[in-house]
Amino acid sequence: MENKAYVPGSTDSRIEELRKRFGDDLVILGHHYQSDEVVRHVDIVGDSLELARRIPDIEARNIVFCGVYFMAESACLLARPGQRVFLPDHEADCAMARMARAEDVERALERLTASGRRVVPLAYVNSSLAVKAVVGRFGGAVCTSSNAKVMLEWAFKQGDAVLFLPDRNLGRNTARTLGIPAKEQCLLDLSRDNLDSDEARSARLLLWPGCCPIHESLMKPDMVDAFHSHFPGCRVLVHPECSPEVVERCDGAGSTAYLIKEAEKAAAEGKESALCIGTEFHLVRRLMEKYADRINIIPLAQATCADMEKVTAERLLATLEGLDEGKGEVFVDEALKAPARESLVRMLEVCR
Ligand code: 13P
Ligand code: SF4
Repeated sequence: MENKAYVPGSTDSRIEELRKRFGDDLVILGHHYQSDEVVRHVDIVGDSLELARRIPDIEARNIVFCGVYFMAESACLLARPGQRVFLPDHEADCAMARMARAEDVERALERLTASGRRVVPLAYVNSSLAVKAVVGRFGGAVCTSSNAKVMLEWAFKQGDAVLFLPDRNLGRNTARTLGIPAKEQCLLDLSRDNLDSDEARSARLLLWPGCCPIHESLMKPDMVDAFHSHFPGCRVLVHPECSPEVVERCDGAGSTAYLIKEAEKAAAEGKESALCIGTEFHLVRRLMEKYADRINIIPLAQATCADMEKVTAERLLATLEGLDEGKGEVFVDEALKAPARESLVRMLEVCR
């Protein structure tokens, strides 16, 4: 958190007054994609894995999560009894998570396993609690972009095949790092219904047809080529939610935590004149500003996540003002809690 004097009566100063008033009863978490106006009030900023890992150690009664809905739901699963989780805007829901409906995932798994084949679901954390519950019931686990490789290796050891969902790009990019050839992969097509096709039956890796519209549609292979030709010898690093066509042209791909570490290293080493980063723009701009005197950080695209942007300083303030009355509290379906938690805890145990 920045130690700044804010204009009395401003949104910033009112947030800080309330943070002081709640003291140890309040912790504010924020994902790296949150805007600066929010991040400046956050106690713990991190990627999805880091934030999930920190929850079990939090003692505060109130956890305000500045991020998107599935992140707050995961926090609810990992919170202690009596702790309350708040999300400043319940409309902030990840577009990719919306691409996998629990009933569709369940139906697909029932069909894929009907013959006795053991298909283990591996859900990217960017999925609803209801999907995580289905995954837990089918013996699967959750992964994040930081640990997708380790978790995919784990999932392969549990059965005959893996259903990776909802992000086909993270699935394919991770498969590439494990050397799984394209012919052993099958992209499910729910409208054409290829679940019973020979391709689906023989594939080791089944991919759900979801994606992040920000990373897939706004970051293109020719943008990577353009950077490389303007800055020879300089690297392009992207988030693995980008398409495989982008990732294979790049010099590295990894979670937001990886991208931040690489920017820090590049700035310290001073070997490159420029570094191109392909992920959500609020994070890239923060890195550009932080290292402006040492390295020229260039965004692959000025792509912002409209859902992450729904959490604003104003909405954070409104949540804090209504905390005692439970404004913005997130509740999860009790019946889904145990199986969803199981899928999440499996990840935390495998990646301990
Ligand atoms: P991380 O797993 O890197 O935090 O990314 C989450 C996300 O939503 C990326 O679009
Ligand atoms: Fe979801 Fe993409 Fe936004 Fe991440 S950037 S929260 S994957 S829509």
